[in-house]
This record gives sequence, structure tokens and C-alpha cells, in this order.
Amino acid sequence: MPPAEVYLDNSATTPVFPEVIAAMEKVMREEYGNPSSLHRRGSGADRMMEMARQTIAELLCVSSEEIIFTSGGTESNNLAIMGIARRNRRRGDHLVTTLIEHSSILEPFQQLEKEGFRVTYLLPDERGLVDPAKAVAAVNSDTILVSIMHVNNEIGSLQPVSRLASAIKARNPRLFFHVDAVQSFGKLPLHPGEAGIDALSISAHKFHGPRGMGALFLRRGIHIDPLLYGGGHERGLRAGTENTPGVVGMALAARLSCRDQQQKINKLASLKERMLAAVEPVNPWLKVNGPRGGEEAAPHILNISFPGLKGELILHALEEHKVYISTGSACHSNKKGPSHVLQALRLDERSMEGAIRISLSEQNTAEQIDYAATALNKVIAELS
Ligand SMILES: Cc1ncc(COP(=O)(O)O)c(C=O)c1O
Repeated sequence: MPPAEVYLDNSATTPVFPEVIAAMEKVMREEYGNPSSLHRRGSGADRMMEMARQTIAELLCVSSEEIIFTSGGTESNNLAIMGIARRNRRRGDHLVTTLIEHSSILEPFQQLEKEGFRVTYLLPDERGLVDPAKAVAAVNSDTILVSIMHVNNEIGSLQPVSRLASAIKARNPRLFFHVDAVQSFGKLPLHPGEAGIDALSISAHKFHGPRGMGALFLRRGIHIDPLLYGGGHERGLRAGTENTPGVVGMALAARLSCRDQQQKINKLASLKERMLAAVEPVNPWLKVNGPRGGEEAAPHILNISFPGLKGELILHALEEHKVYISTGSACHSNKKGPSHVLQALRLDERSMEGAIRISLSEQNTAEQIDYAATALNKVIAELS
């Protein structure tokens, strides 16, 4: 019996865990009070929020006052970058990031350039890895913020963020280091406190939690300008009545995702290898974009090019087999033109056009991968 469907677009978003849906429904039914209200209904909702904050803090090995709830990865990234840069402008006007960041990083930096900041965009190597020596060379005494993603959402390159943190801080101990961990939280362990990270973004819908919910870790003592002003929620850093069901759902999804993490990493890496082992010998001309495996590769993202074919046609042909993949970043799907990430890898035009992204979650099985690989081989033969 073929599987009903094979969902391999988990870097775009993940199916919500059933336990999370149940927990959120319970909060909506029973803890409907406003956490700021002084009566019992309010304090009940407030308690749930604080328990959820504690859960996220414990999973990151930080303190609960260092967690700010937001509406997702985009807001966490905007808040960290705009907030740190604008607040610390008197100390310097130079910022550093990379050319392969998500648009929710690149666009805030472009906005800051319009406000008079200077930004250095680091070019990674041809596998999408940032050289710590180049990052250090970009930093000077005017640098106030460096932002580098942990796992790239299109090609799965995994940056050595701890090594990067110590290298850049050795050069300028006063700068702040932000990490977009949207694609890694819940999949790979990262403890920002130990790693020398000052701010870190996560997004619930990437780890089987609800859409429109995220968090920013901000190291104690760092001052930022808020993006939203209003009722003083989240210690005045993010105004707006709290999304209690979303917060509770995110914390539960985080706890479930971070369980048995090493076992899940091994499973994801073996599913990724299984896919490649079934497809590459049949199509030896394919190209793997980004690192293939090992310490430099995220275990759940595989980006491959079939030069001469069109990624979008492969995607739609696979859809006929109920196999769902992506051509790159779903968040950019309304933007035309080649992916800025594949461009930064210096891929030729044909390889960029023929690229597809397969992204896994803990819910995928070996049977699903075998079915999807057979479908992919069939589709490639038909399109070639
Ligand atoms: C690396 C990365 N950062 C940020 C985001 C934005 O997160 P959200 O969809 O929660 O706004 C995404 C979404 O795909 C992402 O992949």
C-alpha cells in the first residue's frame, strides 16, 4: 500500500503535533482570561504563560527572564536586529551578516542601511559555510552587531556558531551576536549562553507548534528598542495582549521536539542518506547543493539540482504522486527569480533552475522515503 501522502516540506512548515492541538484547545476553552487581568481568570492564564516561558528557557539552558514571546521567526529576527542596532547606535554604526540569511534578516539590515548604518555582507564558501576568519576580518571597533544563521533553510548548511562567537568576540568583545535558529531549534541542540550568543530567534511552526508564534532569547542586560509600543507586555519589549494558547502550544511542541534529540538526529541523517542513495545512482548527474553530511550539514535538509530540468516542474510532477517538496524557501515563493542562497553558492543558471529542496521531520519514515525516491526517479526520467 503506498502512503496516503509524503510530506517532505518541513522547512516550510511542519504538521502540528496532535498533543499540541489538544493543549491549545484546552487553553482556549478554559484559560481564556487576559494574563494582565487581576482576577483569577487572568492569573490562571498568566501562570500558564510563565510555565511555558520556563519550559523554553530550560530547553535553551537560559533564564526565563531572557525569553520574549513574539509572533514568529520574522518578528524575533526583526526585533533583535532593529532593536539592538537602533538602541546601540551611539557605540557604533557597523553591522555584519551573511548573504545567505533569510529575508527576515536581510530586509531589516537593508532598512538599517537606509537609516545610515553600514552593513558588511559575508560571502560563504561554495557549500554555504561562513569562514570564521572572514567574519573576524569583517569586524572592527565600530561593529555593534553580527547576525549569522545556525542552519540555512534552503541548503541545510550548519554554521559553527560557537566558534564564530568566540572568534568575533575576541576581536571586539563589545559587539552583540544574534543567531537565527529557526531551522535548528527542536532539531539540533544549541545552548546560547554557553555558545556566546547574545540573542537567538525561534519559530514554533518549524517544530510542530502553531503558526504565528515564536520567541527571542535576549541575554540579560542587553537593551533594545521595541518594535511595538503599547501596553507594556513582555517587559515593555513587545506590546500586545499575549497569545496564551500559542505560547502554551509552542512550549509543548518544543518539549516534544527536544525529546530523544540524538536519536532523532541519527534518524533524520539516515533518512537523508537513504534518499540520496536511492536517487543519485539512477541520476549520477545530479548535484548536491550545500554540505552532504557530517558536522557541517543539518540532518533534515537536502537540496539537489537536476541541471537542465525545472525545479518547479519536478515539484508539480511529484505532487501527482502526493509527494510534497519545495523548490527553495516557501517563504520566498511569491518572489520571482533565482534564490539568493543558490546565487551566493555561485551555482550556474541551469543548476539553480533545476534545484529542489527535500526537508524532513521526525514524523517521516523509511517507507515514505523509499516511496518518494521511486516517485522522484520516475518523474526525472519522464522530464528528461
Ligand atoms: C531561517 C528562517 N528564519 C526565519 C524564518 C521566518 O519564520 P516565521 O515563518 O516564523 O516568520 C524562516 C521561515 O521559513 C526561516 O526559515
